[in-house]
Amino acid sequence: MTRRPFIAGNWKMHTTPVEARDLARALREALAGVESVDVAVFPPFLSVAATIQELAGSNIDVGVQNVYWEPKGAFTGEVSAAMAYTVGCVWTLLGHSERRQFFEETDASVRRKLEACLQIGLKAVVCVGETLLERETGKTFDIIQRQVTVALKELPERAFNDLVIAYEPVWAIGTGKTASPDQAEEVHAFIRRWIASLNGSRAATDVRILYGGSVKADNIASLLEMPNIDGALVGGASLTAEQFVPIVTAAQSPRKPQ
Ligand code: PGA
Repeated sequence: MTRRPFIAGNWKMHTTPVEARDLARALREALAGVESVDVAVFPPFLSVAATIQELAGSNIDVGVQNVYWEPKGAFTGEVSAAMAYTVGCVWTLLGHSERRQFFEETDASVRRKLEACLQIGLKAVVCVGETLLERETGKTFDIIQRQVTVALKELPERAFNDLVIAYEPVWAIGTGKTASPDQAEEVHAFIRRWIASLNGSRAATDVRILYGGSVKADNIASLLEMPNIDGALVGGASLTAEQFVPIVTAAQSPRKPQ
């Protein structure tokens, strides 16, 4: 089967509502003819409403960058999966390395959040990835295996329609260092094999695995040539239409080995 390419733009803590609206409008206009790629953008919470308004009726989905697992209550500073879904978000990121690094996100909290999302129908991009130290000390596959196992074990097959994995080596995020296509493919193939043993071959075949970490217009094509790389989670290069649009258009006809 062919998995539909997916390009996601993580705006992180960038864009006021006015800036978000301008960026969303530029993307909507430039990407109007794109049909064969799923596209989503992830503005910060306060810019979600403006982005959703601007992208209404377009081929670009909107998501949040994090959610809390309880639907509502005395949880100051948090936003629930149900709230994001209610205002029109289709996606959320979960377990981004910056949340793990700076905001005490753990494998267990990612799992709880994922369950809350699946229950209400908010789709999730579950992020995994090793640090430079972990890679250099030969722990990459152990770390990835642990993160994927806690997030996904015992999930039913149908959950894999509503979740995507993003492999983002921490040493490649915002550093200008991209994992080589072969380095990324090695981990993507490992994740897919591991999901096959955890959740069955159907889930493994269907699930999309995105690569993230310094993706740009000039390296996306060689990444997408890899059989197990189904798209990208883009940070810095998603903040202008000039940089993001060519990444999406490159995904329209990824060259895959037959
Ligand atoms: P980057 O960020 O493209 O700026 O490296 C990717 C991410 O953190 O999702």
